[in-house]
Amino acid sequence: MELPFVESYKIKMVEPLRRSTRAERETWIKAAHYNLFNLRSEQVFIDLLTDSGTGAMSDRQWAAMMMGDESYAGASSYYNLKAAIQNILGFDYFLPTHQGRAAENVLFSVLIKEGDIIPGNSHFDTTKGHIEFRKAMALDCTIDEASDTQKELPFKGNMCLNKLANALSEHHEKIPFVLITITNNTAGGQPVSMECIRNVRALADKYKKPVVVDAARFAENAYFIKTREKGFEHKTIKEIVKEMFSYADAMTMSSKKDAIVNIGGFVAMRHKDWFDKASVFNIMFEGYVTYGGMSGRDMNAVAVGLDEGTEFDYLETRIKQVAYLGEQLDKYGIPYQRPAGGHAIFVDAKKLLSKVPREEFQAQTLGVELYLEAGIRGVEIGAILADRDPLTRENRYPELEMLRLAIPRRTYTNNHIDLIAAALKNVYDRCDTITHGYKIVKEAPIMRHFTVELAPVDS
Ligand code: F0G
Repeated sequence: MELPFVESYKIKMVEPLRRSTRAERETWIKAAHYNLFNLRSEQVFIDLLTDSGTGAMSDRQWAAMMMGDESYAGASSYYNLKAAIQNILGFDYFLPTHQGRAAENVLFSVLIKEGDIIPGNSHFDTTKGHIEFRKAMALDCTIDEASDTQKELPFKGNMCLNKLANALSEHHEKIPFVLITITNNTAGGQPVSMECIRNVRALADKYKKPVVVDAARFAENAYFIKTREKGFEHKTIKEIVKEMFSYADAMTMSSKKDAIVNIGGFVAMRHKDWFDKASVFNIMFEGYVTYGGMSGRDMNAVAVGLDEGTEFDYLETRIKQVAYLGEQLDKYGIPYQRPAGGHAIFVDAKKLLSKVPREEFQAQTLGVELYLEAGIRGVEIGAILADRDPLTRENRYPELEMLRLAIPRRTYTNNHIDLIAAALKNVYDRCDTITHGYKIVKEAPIMRHFTVELAPVDS
């Protein structure tokens, strides 16, 4: 008999989960103004809001925490992290920041000015926020196929080279750099192929433009390259990672994802002049250059996390769990962005709740229904997140309306996954009866999804 695939770790420490009744959840979600971010974590049974900072650290990481050096300047923890970044990612210069968006803030302060255009493959919302905040524009050059949720492609996160070539030839004087996001979170945790990364680099070189990588889930991207792209099957994840970054001038990192820590980020660079300029902003916004918003213990945990996060056995366990959720949904015929992504399943809310008008926020409506069903918290990746056009202030309606179910690293078991699938099946069975969604009552001028307040639209 063939032995089943199982996790590459065992559990040493646990945290209780709290069950609730539907009646309790109805009260709580109303008090939260139908915004899942406003719930208290005790009101959530299984939390799939994000895979960011929600993973379980290893015994090695906790041991490294105890060895943290909290010196203001020149801490050994800083040098541990510097060595890990040099050895694993291949960058000589780096600045620690408190998380990924802070890394964006520091680097973009050096590179972006008003009127600039930054082409990329589905900029993440904080990335877009930091671009638009500087009165510059994020130009999405993702391949068109990424918006067809039923189309199976091995590298559905890719940049469209034609779109990028057009952008570079039309606007090259306004483009400070090209941005590659790996994996492509917004398009469904979909990977970018090495071939695409190489071609983007070649195109950028033609116009003498640098390439920056938003690397939050770089290790998951490397896993997909190893398992899907010809010529990489015998390379280690660490070899693939080195090659991916060899095409980049700089990277911004949210360590809360593939470095498997609860807080942290960094900017890493190849150029001394960028480092010198960025250091000034780092000192201003984050902290001195050798800690930049992080404690020594947290930098130690990142250094170990970068090593563990780029081990094949860990990544295989991780990505197969996400795929397992996809397989359960397949059994029930529930549509999601195919194939399963690296960190999450993105349920196609537009297909599921086709009777809810898009102006009433289909993905948000599905998120509230799943919460009411079983206390599971996902996140809307749709029109609320897409926000208003900064110039016209009109709502932007993206091609995809999805409910993201992000799976924290090393946190839940496949029994939890079975429950998530069953709860979604129950919502699916009654989706024809859901004909109305929500209207916005209150919203912030930028990144409104975090704090938006909603009310049900009466039928
Ligand atoms: N880039 C990508 C691709 C991201 O997914 C995120 C965060 C960031 C940058 C910003 O990093 O949160 O450390 O400041 N994504 C989280 C998510 C929040 O839920 O997808 P951060």
